[in-house]
Order: sequence, then C-alpha cells, then structure tokens
Amino acid sequence: MRDVIVAANWKMHTTPADAGDLATTIAARTRVPGVTRVICPPFVCLAAVRDALAEHDPSVAVGAQTVHHELAGAYTGETAAPMLVGLATWAILGHSERRRDAGETDDLIGRKLSRAVDAGLRPILCVGELLEEREAGRATQVVETQLRGALAAADPQALASAGFVIAYEPVWAIGTGRTATASDAAAMADAIRTGLTALGWPDGGEGVPILYGGSVTSVNIGEFMAEPAIDGALVGGASLKPDEMAGIVARAGITAAARGLAG
Ligand code: PGA
Repeated sequence: MRDVIVAANWKMHTTPADAGDLATTIAARTRVPGVTRVICPPFVCLAAVRDALAEHDPSVAVGAQTVHHELAGAYTGETAAPMLVGLATWAILGHSERRRDAGETDDLIGRKLSRAVDAGLRPILCVGELLEEREAGRATQVVETQLRGALAAADPQALASAGFVIAYEPVWAIGTGRTATASDAAAMADAIRTGLTALGWPDGGEGVPILYGGSVTSVNIGEFMAEPAIDGALVGGASLKPDEMAGIVARAGITAAARGLAG
C-alpha cells in the first residue's frame, strides 16, 4: 500500500528563533500512527527544525523547498542538493511559486530532481495547471506535459527507489481558499498515473504516492483523503497552524489505518 504523507510547506515563513518551537509543537500534535510527516521550512531554519525534531520527535522528516540544478559553482544565493545532507532528507521540486517567480522550467526541474535523488533526498515533484488552462479543458494535458518534461531524463527505477512522490497542486487553488473538488483531484491523480505508465514507470505508477495541495485545511482534508487515488496532502498556509495540522494529520491517520499502515 502507498504511504500516507502530510507535508508542510512553510514557504517564506518562520525564523531560526521560532521555527524549532513551531516544529516541536506540530510534531507533538500530530503523532498519528501510519502517517509520514514532513516539515519543509526555509533554508535558514533547516538546522533549527532538524535539531528540535531530533530532540523531540525524530519520526518527523525535514525537507527543503527546492534545490539548485548544479552541484556547486558561481550561483549567488543558491543551495545545492549535496549541501543539504545532514540537514534535510526530503525536497520539494517544481513548486508553482518557483515556476512563477524563479522561471523554473520542466527541464530545469528535471535536473533538480536528479540532483535531489543523487543527494539521497526523497523528492516531491509538484505539478498543476493554471486557472485558464483548467477552464480551457487543458488541465490533464498541461500536467502530462509537466511530467514528461521533468521526467524526460529520469530513470523510473531509480526515482521509484528514492520514494518519488508527486503533489498535484492546481495553481488557482494555492493560497486562495479555493480547492479543486476531490473528484477532480482524484481524476488528475489517475491521469498522472496514466502519464507515468506511458513513461515506462514500474507498476504504471501505482506505487507513487500522489498528494493533493491547494488550500488544504482540517475542514476539507476529509474529502481528499476519501479518494483512494490520493495519498495525502502538501499543505501551505494551514501548515503553520498546529491546530490545523493536528486535524489534517488526524484525518490522514484514518486513511492510513484503513490501508493497514498504522500497525
Ligand atoms: P496552500 O499552499 O495550502 O497555502 O494553498 C499549498 C502549497 O503551495 O504547497
């Protein structure tokens, strides 16, 4: 059975002074059997979060929000994947805010993905369509193109062994309070697995966890977790709120128990 995962994307929030406490509080409020928890703070907070979790709850993983596509070099302000060894064990790649603000292309994201895997990081690849693309009936096509672009040079076997995860995040649902319907999100998860099959993925992508992201809260998580094609959530705004995280992970735990992961 696929893992049930709740990943917190703190984006550009928290400081090294407060991130450890927030991580500890969230960890204590989300101790639910069978749910894989990941906290992705800003780079400058990675050490604080790592240290706090190592002391209070080492079962919560730490992730980076991106990695650079090169191993080292003259890239002012950037962080290469190998630099994260010892700080993080997961990495988010291709988040729509980076596609939008840092001009990340599918090809570049594919290079980041292989750097992350080579550094031993478990990757979460984000895909998702813009509102105008959904309204034009092109959502599936856009996400398939993103997948094909990012995975063009990937070795499916190596990625599968790295625990490859995909987050389907419709761009119009991120930070807007608006969500995809659970059935639309499940249909996109099916389309993503069909896309993986076409790319020669082992088991037609059946082993790849697919998370939903976009305005997930403790109130709406139940709809998404009720869909067998969806394996958890990538949570932004609500992931900074311990009460919200408690509710989200508790609901994910029901799915984990139903899948026999909680034992
Ligand atoms: P949101 O962000 O939950 O604030 O919509 C999700 C994400 O960007 O991963």
